[in-house]
Amino acid sequence: MKPLISLDNVSVEIDHKKILYDVSLVIHLNQIITLIGPNGAGKSTLVKVILGLVPHTSGIIKHSANLTIGYVPQSINLNSTLPITVKRFMRLNKHLNNEDIVNILSMVKAEYLINTSMHQLSGGELQRVLLAQALAKKPQLLILDEPTQGVDVNGQVLLYDLIANAKKHFNCGILMVSHDLHLVMAKTDEVICLNHHICCSGTPAVVSNDPEFISLFGRHGASQIAVYKHHHNHQHDWCKHNIE
Ligand SMILES: Nc1ncnc2c1ncn2[C@@H]1O[C@H](COP(=O)(O)OP(=O)(O)O)[C@@H](O)[C@H]1O
Ligand SMILES: [Mg+2]
Repeated sequence: MKPLISLDNVSVEIDHKKILYDVSLVIHLNQIITLIGPNGAGKSTLVKVILGLVPHTSGIIKHSANLTIGYVPQSINLNSTLPITVKRFMRLNKHLNNEDIVNILSMVKAEYLINTSMHQLSGGELQRVLLAQALAKKPQLLILDEPTQGVDVNGQVLLYDLIANAKKHFNCGILMVSHDLHLVMAKTDEVICLNHHICCSGTPAVVSNDPEFISLFGRHGASQIAVYKHHHNHQHDWCKHNIE
């Protein structure tokens, strides 16, 4: 299958500082890739390079033709002096009519917020509206940068369920930056562990045993991935080995 996007040895330098070097990855339709790494590792920069918001210094990036990308950024700056309802925010997608807006908000269980001010939303509600905004593009690739920041635990579970539903609905590929390993690993196809370069990558089972992953995230991080394996693969011998 042709990839949605591929990066081949991509490096980024800003003000003579190397932020990313030799990053290679491929994203396909129907695939969930979870990007993890310490603060300042370059995760958001990598996302912005993929979106074309930050230029790369070297390497090659290829998109499939007419690729549509929906993006949920790590943070948004709403002008606090400018009142804006959820409906008007959604209207920033010019092609959406009222019915489309209601439908897309229902997909993320946010239709009741349609006339609410963006400034009055809780953390979880805001993230769901941002997800709706990203889904309004009918994306082939959905990119989310730490979508559960400022969201309580129930809200996190809901958000990840909605993301999984969106994948089913649009058959899209998903790249998400997330530290909620215990919540996302069961649905993740590939984990990429980034610390300016790709330290290790592979299925959650492979990554949780990688010495580079363990040195970055410790045994606790590895056990968060292992919890998932225990629930889902306890009948397999290899799993016993992995969760030790
Ligand atoms: N526009 C920029 N100008 C200068 N430095 C930047 C810029 N964007 C990111 N950086 C630096 O790049 C590094 C990685 O940042 P970021 O990609 O936000 O990391 P992460 O998302 O993994 O926490 C940080 O040291 C940050 O200060
Ligand atoms: Mg970031």
